[in-house]
Amino acid sequence: MSILVTGGAGYIGSHTCVELLNANYDVIIVDNFDNSNEDSVARIEKIAGKSVKYYNVNLLDFDSLNHVFMQNKIEAVIHFAGLKAVGESVAKPLYYYETNIGSTLNLCKVMEAHHVYKLVFSSSATVYGMPDSVPLNETAPLRALNPYGRTKIIIEDLLRDVAASNENWCISLLRYFNPIGAHKSGLIGENPSGMPNNLMPFITQVAAGVREELSVFGTDYPTDDGTCVRDYIHVVDLALGHLKSLEKLDSFTGTQAYNLGTGQGYSVLEVISAFEQASGITIPKKMVERRPGDAPVSYADPTKAKNELGWSAKRDLLEMCEDSWRWQLSL
Ligand code: WQD
Repeated sequence: MSILVTGGAGYIGSHTCVELLNANYDVIIVDNFDNSNEDSVARIEKIAGKSVKYYNVNLLDFDSLNHVFMQNKIEAVIHFAGLKAVGESVAKPLYYYETNIGSTLNLCKVMEAHHVYKLVFSSSATVYGMPDSVPLNETAPLRALNPYGRTKIIIEDLLRDVAASNENWCISLLRYFNPIGAHKSGLIGENPSGMPNNLMPFITQVAAGVREELSVFGTDYPTDDGTCVRDYIHVVDLALGHLKSLEKLDSFTGTQAYNLGTGQGYSVLEVISAFEQASGITIPKKMVERRPGDAPVSYADPTKAKNELGWSAKRDLLEMCEDSWRWQLSL
């Protein structure tokens, strides 16, 4: 029996595939390599010392996806595939709705046709929008600030309805906070094309001389040092959270949401300082105006994942910075 990983060649998907292989699962990757490349599969295999079957398939292509299920005995699915750039989603909402929701609709229809009812879905803390209070637990209201976040809420609602229609379904909705870091091998990591949207890849590109300086978006927030606070989580901790979630899919029916964060928030300036300590490099930066849509503070209450999944993040911010830097040096 295999675990099918959609988007398995991507940043979080590839790290999860490594941990699945380390745990002796058989892994099948389905990816259209829109935001990754086939070399990632070879790197996953090199790290784990095991082979991975993969299919270059767009989840919007029902027949091709159905063929994958006809060719393999699939026990469960981890669904990462989707578009995730906030700014792009504002510019191209129809592309985001069609891709993220359409691919999930196809996946559920094919899974149901093949009586596969175990699903781990890659959701995001972005579903909480601008939090009323922190730390955030899973009962916080869902209200997205952008089309990308709205696709995640719509998909969560879609999955709740699917699970309510057929008691065989058991679905975990994993809401990630801010994944950073990379596998210690330096073989896999986050490699955004073009100008990075997110903080850590921008920092590592500045440190590597790829970018001139870092813009700090806003220094007048109601936080200790005036910059935004986020819950940064090591991508390997996140990957391990998926395995714990997979193991628990037999223990419930319906859907369960879990916040995957450390429970510790750090400001932008604290992250920069930790990176400078980890790399020994001073990051040139300029303080600029706020980025629209940024929440001042967002970090998780990870109690539910700890109590129900037996999972908690282990890696600290310094290690996240060290591992991010090692990956950047390998590019
Ligand atoms: C973190 C902080 C920025 C870049 C986003 C998505 C979320 C999820 C994770 C997909 C903020 C500041 C950033 C820079 C900066 N992605 N910053 N200069 O916005 O918390 O979350 O990525 O699921 O959906 O919304 O992460 O890394 O973009 O920003 O000052 O060059 O760093 O203002 O305060 P964010 P981020």
